[in-house]
Amino acid sequence: MARLQSCPPLAIRSGHDGWLFDESGYRYFDSVSSWWVNILGHTNHRITEAIVRQANELSHVMLGGCTHEPAVKLAERLALKTGQHLGHVFFASDGSSAVEIALKQCFHAKAIQGQTARKRFACLRNSYHGETIGALSVTDVPLFQNSYRALLNDTIIIDSPDNRANNENEALKALSDLLEKQGHELCALIIEPRVQCGGGMSMHSAQYLRQVRQLTRQHGVYLIADEIAVGCGRTGTFFAWEQVNEADWPDAVLLSKGITGGNLPLSVVLSSEEIFESFLSDDFTRGFLHSHSYTGNPIACAAANVVLDYFDEGLEDTIHQQSKFLSHAFSRFDGDSRISGLRQCGMILAFDVKDAGENFAERFHLQGRTEEILTRPIGNTVYLMPPYVLSQELADFLADAIAKCLDKVLNRC
Ligand SMILES: Cc1ncc(COP(=O)(O)O)c(C=O)c1O
Repeated sequence: MARLQSCPPLAIRSGHDGWLFDESGYRYFDSVSSWWVNILGHTNHRITEAIVRQANELSHVMLGGCTHEPAVKLAERLALKTGQHLGHVFFASDGSSAVEIALKQCFHAKAIQGQTARKRFACLRNSYHGETIGALSVTDVPLFQNSYRALLNDTIIIDSPDNRANNENEALKALSDLLEKQGHELCALIIEPRVQCGGGMSMHSAQYLRQVRQLTRQHGVYLIADEIAVGCGRTGTFFAWEQVNEADWPDAVLLSKGITGGNLPLSVVLSSEEIFESFLSDDFTRGFLHSHSYTGNPIACAAANVVLDYFDEGLEDTIHQQSKFLSHAFSRFDGDSRISGLRQCGMILAFDVKDAGENFAERFHLQGRTEEILTRPIGNTVYLMPPYVLSQELADFLADAIAKCLDKVLNRC
């Protein structure tokens, strides 16, 4: 915890739209939507009102043996957004618990179908799917894994595609070879569609994902699309998968983070008819047994229903416009010899800093504080994942602030 001395936490008192205000009255633009959750900015009054209304009606009831309108409504609306391809919704409390559920469902469904040799999972190199034991097992970030190696499952790691390396064909070949050789051992492959966020914002095409879907189908391996970070409009469409193939969905899609607009913890696992049918039995031991105390909390579901209202009212068009503001503002970095890999997917923009020097991420973050911006580079990768509240003026402000941070941090190396 020695870092707390060099980088003391900011004591935040309030937040409005994209801005956070600290105890001393200084402001910071939250350029990373507070770990990618506050997609509609801070203190969104429509969501707050819905939360208060729901809290005055029913603040919680267990989903075991009970149900309630906010959860049913949310499940039906989400299923509709997949064109009913994923018509079954399992609620949980956070991203990692959604990952755990999806992994368990895939393993258990295959076992029920008699495919008991399928005991392993696969994930992409540099993937990030959370830090509980199951989720950490399908994460490929040594920093988070190293201390817990002995506890983790034996996951197969597959080379990941990365636009910067122009290597999608090689990545597909690696997947295809792996499936030929070991596909029979696998119950599921888990991926972050379009952008591997926690691993450093590496991006790939929808075409790559189309091929992944085909290959996993050919080999009877379930495909889990972890849209915990990239869902809820982040890549331009509500589900990133909409850009891939609206007629052929993964077997499960996960959402969390933005689903309540950063107001309350909630996650969902949307799954296919085949997975659901596997558990449909009077035999208790065949059922999918998994519960969290706060599963499907009505207040969280009420907040999520407001987020979906925004999408029904045309938020995707707004996101499209705002992502153009972002690319316009950051076009000034094009050709900047201090950086490489300037890239964007919807409301995610990133670049890599060359010769970043030691402790770059912390130094950049601290400099950001003095430029009125909250930023958290991943290693030498500077990225923006702002709330969907941008004007051209705000996007220009962000580009100015990032440019000043870059100048000052690199000149000090
Ligand atoms: C793609 C992805 N999956 C899972 C998680 C884990 O979510 P949580 O932190 O809510 O457990 C994250 C968190 O950043 C994520 O980015």
